[in-house]
Amino acid sequence: MKVGDRHYRSLWTEQPGGPVHIIDQTRLPHAFETRALDSLEAVAEAIVSMRVRGAPLIGVSAAFGIALAMARDASDEALAHAATRLGATRPTAVNLAWAIARMRTALAGLTPAERASAAWFQAQAIADEDAALNEAIGRHGVALLEREHAAHGRPVNVLTHCNAGWLACVDWGTALSPVFQAHDKGIPVHVWVDETRPRSQGLLTAWELAGHGVPHTLVADNAGGHLMQHGKVDLVIVGADRVTRKGDVANKIGTYLKALAAHANGVPFYAAVPTPTIDWEIDDALSGIPIEERGAEEVRVVRGLDGAGRVQAVEIAPATTAVANPAFDVTPASLVTGILTEKGLFPAKETALLALYPRDRQSKAFLT
Ligand code: MRU
Repeated sequence: MKVGDRHYRSLWTEQPGGPVHIIDQTRLPHAFETRALDSLEAVAEAIVSMRVRGAPLIGVSAAFGIALAMARDASDEALAHAATRLGATRPTAVNLAWAIARMRTALAGLTPAERASAAWFQAQAIADEDAALNEAIGRHGVALLEREHAAHGRPVNVLTHCNAGWLACVDWGTALSPVFQAHDKGIPVHVWVDETRPRSQGLLTAWELAGHGVPHTLVADNAGGHLMQHGKVDLVIVGADRVTRKGDVANKIGTYLKALAAHANGVPFYAAVPTPTIDWEIDDALSGIPIEERGAEEVRVVRGLDGAGRVQAVEIAPATTAVANPAFDVTPASLVTGILTEKGLFPAKETALLALYPRDRQSKAFLT
């Protein structure tokens, strides 16, 4: 997507072997800065500190982390170490484990001499596929917005939580891809953007929407229920970090509350996900999906610009205040109207989602 006149991906490379360029998302929306990552450790740090974030981008970054590691040392030990190091960075987004497994499978049968270039090729393929999957999600999702516009004859009001836009992926985004594409087709759209405390990823969403010229309004996280009660939300679209084959959706903390409010008010609630975000193994989402617990300072400290335009951090609670910071929650399938994927819109039900199950894994136990 564009920043000013230039097309950017959230992560890109200029030559095989590195470095890997990223947009430092910890600096947005106040400053647009890029960074060059040249090692496994630099990628691991970028994922943990959320310079790169969002389930698809975490997976792609990890793939390049392995490629950077292989450029230095392509031994079996180095491959195993890279997979373990990256796998421990953030637990909830299944795209991370998916990308690491794909890299390991692609590299396993190769000699160390063959691995560096194969790793780079595979990481780049994962990145390009991510952009294509998310573009396709948008194409299918436009129909939802078109339908709402036809029904009401006024701009469609979408509510979204967190940032599931192009910054969270390689390009396009998941939840925002239909919004961008609808806007480009001339369908009038307005987005209610949840601020999404404590990390305020809603500010990234607002930045993306502003960059694309999509009308939007930033709201405090607690406003969604009120807006829905008053008919101001036509549909909710969120991304996801992990969707079970039964249609349960793990996403940014607070998503569940929005789904409850949507259900109570008859507002359709969709999760937009590329298929690598589906976890085919987990049976019980509540006990099976690891929920990342992040540091207390994310809740106790807020960042913003001071009167002189400098970024400042301000403590809003004393260090003695006990803080909990679960980063994700699970929305049960019963509250999800549909799962929007690159292959179309599916009910949040095992019978429907199994149509998406990868052909090369058809022998898995739960299918037999
Ligand atoms: O903690 P984050 O910012 O990585 O969480 C991101 C989200 O929860 C997104 O909604 C999700 O990863 C989908 S991104 C297309």
